Amino acid sequence: MVFGNRPPEGIRSRNETVTPTRPETEPAMSEQTKTDRVIIFDTTLRDGEQSPGISLDAGEKLEIAEQLARLGVDYIEAGFPIASQGDFEAVHAIASSIEGPTICGLSRTAHKDIDRCWEAIEPAAQRRIHTFIATSPTHMEHKLKMSPAQVLAEATSAVTRAREYTDDVEFSPEDASRSDFDFMCDVLQAAVDAGAGTLNIPDTVGFATPVEWAARIRAIRERVSGNYVLSTHCHNDLGLAVANSLAAVEAGARQVECTINGIGERAGNAAMEEIVMAIRTRPDTYADIEVDIRTEELAKSSRIVSRLTGYPVQYNKAVVGRNAFAHEAGIHQHGVLNERTTYEIMDPAAVGQGESQLVLGKHSGRAAFRDALQKLGHDIQGDALNAAFTRFKELADRKVQLSDADLEALAIEELGGSIDHAYEFVSLDVRGGNLSTPSADLVMRVDGEEVSASCEGDGMVDASCTAIKQATGAEGRMTDYNVTSVTGGVDALADVALTFESNDGVKVSGRGLSTDVVEASARAFIGALNKIARIRESGEDPNAVDRPGHIG
Ligand code: KIV
Ligand code: ZN
Repeated sequence: MVFGNRPPEGIRSRNETVTPTRPETEPAMSEQTKTDRVIIFDTTLRDGEQSPGISLDAGEKLEIAEQLARLGVDYIEAGFPIASQGDFEAVHAIASSIEGPTICGLSRTAHKDIDRCWEAIEPAAQRRIHTFIATSPTHMEHKLKMSPAQVLAEATSAVTRAREYTDDVEFSPEDASRSDFDFMCDVLQAAVDAGAGTLNIPDTVGFATPVEWAARIRAIRERVSGNYVLSTHCHNDLGLAVANSLAAVEAGARQVECTINGIGERAGNAAMEEIVMAIRTRPDTYADIEVDIRTEELAKSSRIVSRLTGYPVQYNKAVVGRNAFAHEAGIHQHGVLNERTTYEIMDPAAVGQGESQLVLGKHSGRAAFRDALQKLGHDIQGDALNAAFTRFKELADRKVQLSDADLEALAIEELGGSIDHAYEFVSLDVRGGNLSTPSADLVMRVDGEEVSASCEGDGMVDASCTAIKQATGAEGRMTDYNVTSVTGGVDALADVALTFESNDGVKVSGRGLSTDVVEASARAFIGALNKIARIRESGEDPNAVDRPGHIG
């Protein structure tokens, strides 16, 4: 351990944006906040990793850190080195190999925590120690069992110790939103006086509301003197983390602590992608405020974090959700086809989401339906288009999820055209009941050649499907099977919808209509196998095929 080793950290230039002073010398807020850069402090690997159920190993943390560096974040809070040997090693590995962002470690106020934190981050070119202690009455009494005077002394002592290692020290009064304002400001002042360059104000339990949070940030700026960057760290217990963070920026905070996908303790932290895109999309509100992030990397960052943490991203998640640029209503689709900005305030390409998507569902209109078919290479018009659209609406109304292959089949059926099916149904003879083992004699054409198969099964549907497998050589399993009747009564058409997954992971759906439920099942299964054959032939991405309703 080397005390007094303070290499130039080179971070002051990033922090030049805010220099709060006492009210009598402070410029008007409007002047001060108009030319500022907001530092993006990513805590996905520290607070984000504190999400219940998430535990990342060093390799996984490194992979995320590499992506954060590509994204261009200013700071990576890589972990809490004293917490475990594993976290120490992960922080050390990140500090040893990631270039670009400053690497930060979290530390309580105890000197052994700070020493360990420094040991972990030391290899980085730029490093920060982030130390914290709670200042709310409830935390001091029930958790720390310390008096306010002891807490104040701890804060001073921790920052002083950290400054012996680095110029770049951040201090947080934990549970700031429920702390006594005057006492918290005394602690913050002590931290600045001891050398903290960043004061991070955490809404640890997500208790604050935007107007109140902005007022608190503004009041701290007015009360605490010295050269420091004011930062905000908001939790999402009331779903207000992003709103509170942005309110803090409007009130003069120039660092935002956030995570990819908003992961973090309990309901999570403020989502970086939402904060960044709010600032970028609304320059009228955040005039001259800059964030230096490569936004085209946001969607990829979200996917990597989701994959490695196992936390799914909700479909309708702002900015990075898979439906964030998907339109289903006919009126919207028509608008987007004419001019994207009718229903989009961001360009999907700007956040790495590619193109707008028109999703076919029961609300879709003829324009999107036709556009989808055109993209599949079928320019159908007139009566055929009307007939196909009517059939599509019927299916969509019954909540059938339509894949590209479904659409294609529908168009071809209505065009009266024929496609080269690999497999064709010819005939089926089945026996069932409770007196004999159910069996099926099937005849079908495989690549134009007639093939027959006879099989037994648990029931007539099972026997028929086994016969189809035998005739086609298909291997895999039925993952879903549904029968509905198209109309009422015993003479109703049976509508079978099933999902089949081949042994090599291709998942397709198949549908079959017949007055006989066994025949409808056989047709549905043969239809599914034809899709697999078409997918293999076209080289299409098998995993994209059954994305519900996706046609983009
Ligand atoms: O939420 C919180 O208070 C924290 C601190 C360590 C900043 O995560
Ligand atoms: Zn937190």
